Amino acid sequence: MKQWKVVVTDYIENALDWEIEQFKTMENVTFEHYQLKQSPKAELIEKVRDADIIVVNMAAFDAEVLGSLEKCKLLIRHGIGYDNVEVPACTANGIRFAYQPDYCATEVAETAVALIMACGRKLFASLEVLKDASANQIWNFAPMGEVHRMFGQTLGIVGAGRIGGRVCRMMSNFGMRIMVCDPYLDERQKGALGLAQTYSLDEVLKEADIITIHTPLNDETRYMFDEPQFRQMKPQAILVNTSRGGVVNTAALAKALKEGWIGGAGIDVYEKEPPPLDMPLFDCPNATLSAHIGWMSVEAGWHIRYKIMDDIKACLAGQPPANTVNKEIDGLLGGKVYREV
Ligand SMILES: NC(=O)c1ccc[n+]([C@@H]2O[C@H](COP(=O)([O-])OP(=O)(O)OC[C@H]3O[C@@H](n4cnc5c(N)ncnc54)[C@H](O)[C@@H]3O)[C@@H](O)[C@H]2O)c1
Repeated sequence: MKQWKVVVTDYIENALDWEIEQFKTMENVTFEHYQLKQSPKAELIEKVRDADIIVVNMAAFDAEVLGSLEKCKLLIRHGIGYDNVEVPACTANGIRFAYQPDYCATEVAETAVALIMACGRKLFASLEVLKDASANQIWNFAPMGEVHRMFGQTLGIVGAGRIGGRVCRMMSNFGMRIMVCDPYLDERQKGALGLAQTYSLDEVLKEADIITIHTPLNDETRYMFDEPQFRQMKPQAILVNTSRGGVVNTAALAKALKEGWIGGAGIDVYEKEPPPLDMPLFDCPNATLSAHIGWMSVEAGWHIRYKIMDDIKACLAGQPPANTVNKEIDGLLGGKVYREV
């Protein structure tokens, strides 16, 4: 009987007890798990070199790491975004690369809506007003600045896929004008979201009062929000980012917030994670910051564990995973689902 080695390179769960119990029932599987998120590349390579199936959360799988894999048939990303994996190098090495696109889409959309509302209603600024009022036993609302009714404002959604689409549906009851910028939506997707038209990024930058970002991070979207974009936005505009930190130039955003080019920001994701203590957004009172918690819920946590186990079991049975990223691999394996090594 073929022996399989399954390796988890890094994980966000507190422990993998459930997975350990599952693999105990599979005599032909050896299971190893590590926390190699930021370990030296050599250590990562040493741990994964002879693995058949690899599950990765945040560890970086570049061409060198992927080229070192002697037996890997299936690499599974624990999550939606996969900017830590060099997809063409997976394909070049005959490795099928799977991800979990349906995981936590609702949770991230809820987080974006929470940040939109928190920034729009200045919830966190009001805590200081409350403390001050308690200390002095008199209300002083001046530090709140202007607060505008959200009803009637314009919401820009940049990227309307699984998460942005959900935000669009959730926010459609708030009485806001919604402008979607997503050049890749087809007519069916637009129809499903009830969109008569979509808009260019420039149009959204100029007209929206609140902009929420839901694109992947790739060469096209890296620093899509930089100084020239902030200069085009309205002075009271709010930027919300729950996608990937690299879509926004942090230094430029901090400058825009400090110099009043825009009014506020709600940020869940950072260029470097966790961000360093001197990350400039920490010095911006008009930035509402959360700790990359968009994905977080008990329900999403179990959803992804079950789905990854399903993908592993499918691979053991010679079947494809539920969602392959590098679909072009199908044409390269001579009709087989996985490479033979
Ligand atoms: N904060 C979190 O915890 C968390 C959790 C999961 C995912 N995410 C991130 O959320 C983002 C969106 O995920 P998703 O599942 O909705 O992805 P998706 O692929 O379903 O949707 C992305 C959309 O962006 C559009 N797009 C691509 N390039 C664009 C561009 N240049 N301008 C405008 N639109 C563009 C695509 O056409 C697509 O419709 C990803 O960056 C992902 O990494 C964050």
